[in-house]
Amino acid sequence: MHKGIAIYPGSFDPTTNGHLDLIERGAKIFEELVVAILRNSEKSPMFSVAERLQMLRELTADLKNVRIDTFDGLMVEYAKSLEATCILRGIRAISDYEYELQMALMNRKLEPTLETVFMMPADKYSYVSSRLVREVAQAGGPVKGLVPEVVEQKLRERLDPAYKLRDARMNEVLDRRESARKGNKRKKKA
Ligand SMILES: Nc1ncnc2c1ncn2[C@@H]1O[C@H](COP(=O)(O)OP(=O)(O)OP(=O)(O)O)[C@@H](O)[C@H]1O
Ligand SMILES: [Mg+2]
Repeated sequence: MHKGIAIYPGSFDPTTNGHLDLIERGAKIFEELVVAILRNSEKSPMFSVAERLQMLRELTADLKNVRIDTFDGLMVEYAKSLEATCILRGIRAISDYEYELQMALMNRKLEPTLETVFMMPADKYSYVSSRLVREVAQAGGPVKGLVPEVVEQKLRERLDPAYKLRDARMNEVLDRRESARKGNKRKKKA
């Protein structure tokens, strides 16, 4: 087992079985694994950072050397702040390799002591990505087996028309409150 902390960064929007496969493999070879959710990676994510954090915490509760955190800005700075020595990333196909190589070399340039370690998932997850899961679920397709059950349930809630309507109403109320607040501010200034 490798001594020290490794970070597994990503957006996890939502967590897939591919992510979990990698987390389990990582937890076996690193003393401590920090799964780090990148905040602000997408302008309109499907799940909020708080929701992603909660899902990941629930899904990794039985892995004692895994913890979940969030970060912003430069990954190498975040890694330094945790005194991490490794970054864990997953490679699914050649298409991942090009981008991952670029990023790993850039991170090495920024922080030469930080090593990037790549791991491959079980082949049954080698085509699973959050984006595809979102697309399939949004089109009403089944995502069973691609994501854990809690995520499947969350997707169903998010995409069910009844829930959608409730969310839309909630957003409307929040928007109205926000414009009222802005209006009050303007009045005070005048
Ligand atoms: N099925 C998988 N098998 C192995 N690694 C994976 C898998 N899915 C994601 N990863 C890896 O996990 C890390 C974080 O990925 P990320 O959160 O971007 O997931 P993603 O599935 O690529 O999401 P998106 O489709 O939104 O980009 C990356 O290194 C990515 O290559
Ligand atoms: Mg990705």
